[in-house]
Amino acid sequence: MPHQVIEQGDGLKVSVLGAAGGIGQSLSLLLKTQLQFLLRGADCDSKRLSLALFDVNKEAIDGVATDLSHIDTPVEVSAHSPQSGDSAGIGSCLENADVVIIPAGMPRKPGMTRDDLFNINAKIVAQLTDSIAEHCDLRKVFVLVISNPVNALVPVMHHRLRTKHQGRVRGTGIERRVFGVTKLDIVRASTFLREVVNKDSTNTMPFVPVIGGHSGETIIPLFSQNELSEQLTKEQRDFLVNRVQYGGDEVVKAKNGKGSATLSMAHAAFKCAQDFINVILGNTKEINTINFGSLLDFEGRPIAHGAEKLLNAVDNCSFFAVPMTVTREGVQSVDYTIVSRMDAAEKNEMLPLCVSKLKKNVANGETFAVQLV
Ligand code: NAI
Repeated sequence: MPHQVIEQGDGLKVSVLGAAGGIGQSLSLLLKTQLQFLLRGADCDSKRLSLALFDVNKEAIDGVATDLSHIDTPVEVSAHSPQSGDSAGIGSCLENADVVIIPAGMPRKPGMTRDDLFNINAKIVAQLTDSIAEHCDLRKVFVLVISNPVNALVPVMHHRLRTKHQGRVRGTGIERRVFGVTKLDIVRASTFLREVVNKDSTNTMPFVPVIGGHSGETIIPLFSQNELSEQLTKEQRDFLVNRVQYGGDEVVKAKNGKGSATLSMAHAAFKCAQDFINVILGNTKEINTINFGSLLDFEGRPIAHGAEKLLNAVDNCSFFAVPMTVTREGVQSVDYTIVSRMDAAEKNEMLPLCVSKLKKNVANGETFAVQLV
């Protein structure tokens, strides 16, 4: 496994690709207003914070960046678009970025599944992957993919980096720092469980790990892992599982043609990014987090401690969202024991269904990536 000591830079740069969209704008607002609160001690005065916003819609991104730049925080905001020329194109957006977050692409309309977005968004993600490979420091950057379908687009990015950018990625360990963002499923599981069990008795939000993928039955909310669910009837539990798996549809329907979740997604993406930023800033040496990532490195070996055992438990599905320990270098271990801690229904019914669908999604992503020149 490649190991390199990554020097801490004198600043923190977060790049958002697709920043003029519904998620991109709200997420950028959170980053602009909150990033400085993640600084500790001497860093509070000495670290330079920057937020680089890229979108293909130049007018929109110029407007968003100008608007955000008036907010009274020390985070510097810059606008980037293909029409702005090299000095403010995607290269300058990505150069020296510590975290790249990608909500670029089309959202769902009523009646659409996440898979319906695949062809359009896969091309966009493939293009952005090429830019990341060209402009980012692949030894340090973390890449967080929000665009749907996450289950297939993360494999597209992984495959493209491994094959088209072989020379650039070799020895960088970038595959241990590329993840799909599934945090919204965890956010929803927590919210929906509290609504059912103890809304009036406490303000503490219950935690429910959600593993697998990010679409319908590939989403496995592990209510068995939270003791509050002992209060639930089987009907309540089934209702909650279904609500987490199809919670996105509630938003798509309520927005009635005007897109999918943006505000709750921006909140989830910020929480996810915040964990990685804490590691990058050295506030903590490692984080425990749940993300969708590859279980294999670019040489086809298990990517981290525990990955081999997890692969055995999930019928060799090579991408999976699972609790993991991540350091500045990337994923260090995955918690394969989560499978043995599942209850009978989760293990014997939900897991096999998830794995068979997820494997197809991953295969679609990989086939697309092979065909795309
Ligand atoms: P939106 O349509 O409001 O914004 C997308 C933005 O991407 C637009 O500003 C557009 O100009 C930009 N864009 C398109 N092509 C681009 C390219 N090549 N480079 C840079 N920017 C580009 O969509 P919204 O609602 O923000 O959703 C974005 C994506 O996030 C969708 O694919 C949606 O399905 C996904 N999503 C993911 C969730 C998750 O849990 N991972 C939850 C909700 C949405």
